Amino acid sequence: MALLNIGIAGLGRLGRIHAENIAYRLSGARLAAACSIVPDELTRAKNELGVEYCTDSYSDLLKTPGLDAVAIVTTSGLHAAQIEEALDAGKHVFCEKPLGTTMEQCYQAERAVEKHPDLIFQIGFMRRFDPPYVYARKKINEGLIGIPYLVKTSGIDPIKFVEGALKFAPTSGGLFLDMGVHDIDTARWFLGSDPVSVTAYGSSFGYPAFAGFGDCEAGVSLYKHENGSMSFIHLGRTASHGYHIETEIVGTLGTLRIGGIPRKTQCDIYGADGVLTECPEHFPERFDDAYRLELQAFVDYVRENKKPEITVYDGTVCTKIGYATTAAFKTGEMVSI
Ligand code: NAI
Repeated sequence: MALLNIGIAGLGRLGRIHAENIAYRLSGARLAAACSIVPDELTRAKNELGVEYCTDSYSDLLKTPGLDAVAIVTTSGLHAAQIEEALDAGKHVFCEKPLGTTMEQCYQAERAVEKHPDLIFQIGFMRRFDPPYVYARKKINEGLIGIPYLVKTSGIDPIKFVEGALKFAPTSGGLFLDMGVHDIDTARWFLGSDPVSVTAYGSSFGYPAFAGFGDCEAGVSLYKHENGSMSFIHLGRTASHGYHIETEIVGTLGTLRIGGIPRKTQCDIYGADGVLTECPEHFPERFDDAYRLELQAFVDYVRENKKPEITVYDGTVCTKIGYATTAAFKTGEMVSI
């Protein structure tokens, strides 16, 4: 098969990374077109990535001659409508999380995917392609830790970027939805079971402004899963040491731990101030491999006409659980999912 021609929609914080990956780091694919409503981003795509077709209109992007697929990395509330438009235009779709910012949007995306069973759809839960997470899942499948019964996971953004998080707070959907969907999907994936109830709490001691938006600076949630297993998620916006992503999976015969000490590199520094382990600055650095591997998988799925393990329904379920968690935080009550 000739190179897969991909058009990218969205060239912001993450779109730029996906665009570079498609242009330079994937095999079997070509970055054929780009779309953004920010003119400077389009100029950069043309000059730095050599993208032939650049447009500020998503509908025009889909009309690019020879286009096979799109990668949607736009503002979250646009995803569902753009998924539907792309599938209706006969394009395979990779779409960033979240699937939608409302349940109705998620169902709209589901209906569009169901209407086009011949096209590939993949949602961007990149942890499922991150080498340490993939390794942990393999060990679980091999029975190394027996029956996994507890997942404890932390996702804490660096304090260095807290002003950006505050600016985003009124429209982010809140900590449990915006950040939590990755951890929710991680817990479901490792435990092989969906949560049925949740309790959640939050605090905003360092930055009370988060509370003013009905959100929180840090939050915890505890889930009971359908098969009797449990998960505990700790989220935050103010890690002083960098970007902290950690997951522990406890089973009847052992424990697996990913990122217990978040490492920028395997090289520790022994100096006058002691022994230093540097931390990744933020998500582009920590998940560099995962972002490339999830898109390579998408390209391979399309070229081999295979369906991804992760489905549109995973996107819907994670959004639903994110909403239930937010409701548990706001009411202080246990919420059934
Ligand atoms: P951003 O605000 O930096 O960029 C948004 C992009 O969307 C811009 O290029 C903008 O021009 C484009 N856009 C907005 N409206 C458009 C329209 N009508 N037509 C075409 N393009 C349009 O956003 P960021 O941080 O890059 O996030 C994008 C998406 O990626 C979000 O859904 C976010 O949840 C997700 N994301 C996922 C991460 C992950 O780890 N998987 C990490 C960061 C973001």
